[in-house]
Amino acid sequence: MTVITCIDDLKRLHKRRTPKMFYDYCESGSWTEQTFRENTSDFDKIRFRQRVAVDMSNRTLKSAMLGREVTIPVGLSPVGLTGMQRADGEIKAARAALKFGVPFTLSTMSICSIEDVAQATKAPFWFQLYVMRDEEFVDNIIQRAKNAGVSALVLTLDLQILGQRHKDLKNGLSAPPKPTLKNMINLSTKLGWGLEMLQTDKRTFRNIAGHAKNVENMASLSSWTNEQFDPKLDWGKVARLKEKWGGPFILKGILDVEDAKKAVEVGADAIIVSNHGGRQLDGALSTIRVLPSIVRAVKGQTEIWLDSGIRSGQDVLKAIAMGADATMIGRAYIHGLGALGEDGVTTALNIIQKEMDITMALCGRRDIHDVNRDILLIPKDFEGSWQD
Ligand code: GLV
Repeated sequence: MTVITCIDDLKRLHKRRTPKMFYDYCESGSWTEQTFRENTSDFDKIRFRQRVAVDMSNRTLKSAMLGREVTIPVGLSPVGLTGMQRADGEIKAARAALKFGVPFTLSTMSICSIEDVAQATKAPFWFQLYVMRDEEFVDNIIQRAKNAGVSALVLTLDLQILGQRHKDLKNGLSAPPKPTLKNMINLSTKLGWGLEMLQTDKRTFRNIAGHAKNVENMASLSSWTNEQFDPKLDWGKVARLKEKWGGPFILKGILDVEDAKKAVEVGADAIIVSNHGGRQLDGALSTIRVLPSIVRAVKGQTEIWLDSGIRSGQDVLKAIAMGADATMIGRAYIHGLGALGEDGVTTALNIIQKEMDITMALCGRRDIHDVNRDILLIPKDFEGSWQD
């Protein structure tokens, strides 16, 4: 058994243990994957300033998100089909997050439903909403989230149409997988995954199945989004949804200063600077590159969180040092889940926590609140100079 020391170890194990179509779904960006790649490679361009002979005792990484204490400022992002990476994946990830002391966000496109997660965890979690054409479905799912004690709504703004990820089309991605020869051959090498799947009844999009009308092809994410997602979503509707929800409200998918300002205008409690993990607009800038401009524009007016590209505690620290109040991770915990189930999510969080702690200490800081740009060396042209 390999000794797991970093997220990459979990990623290798995830790849080995999970059907190809689901691993590929996780590990893809849209079209050329330029943005997907730059989300991580841009983090690598930033370096740390080592400081010495500074008292590094009594360190703390505790912070807050939406006013609630978190063990580290790292929330679990909503990820579609999580319950296909591992049976009951959303429940396992929610439990690990709860025990570790960070928030878990359930995706609209999850396998386990809002009710499944609420029943299994008996604790509040966050829910991510995609806006559908069917208003009754949207009203209903907001009510279901309230009934389940969901404590914050995350509205995703950057996926009213789905970015094309070549691998998903080539693999014929569906939940559950169709019994084709190619799939059967691949599944025959993933017996542990299959045995766990046979023991659960949660194998389709349970937030939607039985709740939405006129769904032609329930198994396919791409045909579902094409048919159901509302292309008319605008800021007026965002404001109406905020009112309808009436609780803590987070806007995900902000990548431009003008949109960050609009999010503040509608009263978002937090924004997530995100390009959807490089899965939507290929050719968009990496989030760590746009973060400074958004921080200059709206810092203090709403909480600023960042996702897309975080694969280590060092990445988290870089984002915080550049002005993010917190971060969100997707693939980093999904690799843990696919590798080792609930324990793997805990392992991923532990790895990130340790990397943050050691890095912070070697940069001469003891408290995450004292982490700022002074701990970094940022290339002069990092933000890029673009023509007006
Ligand atoms: C859905 O949120 C996706 O990125 O596939």
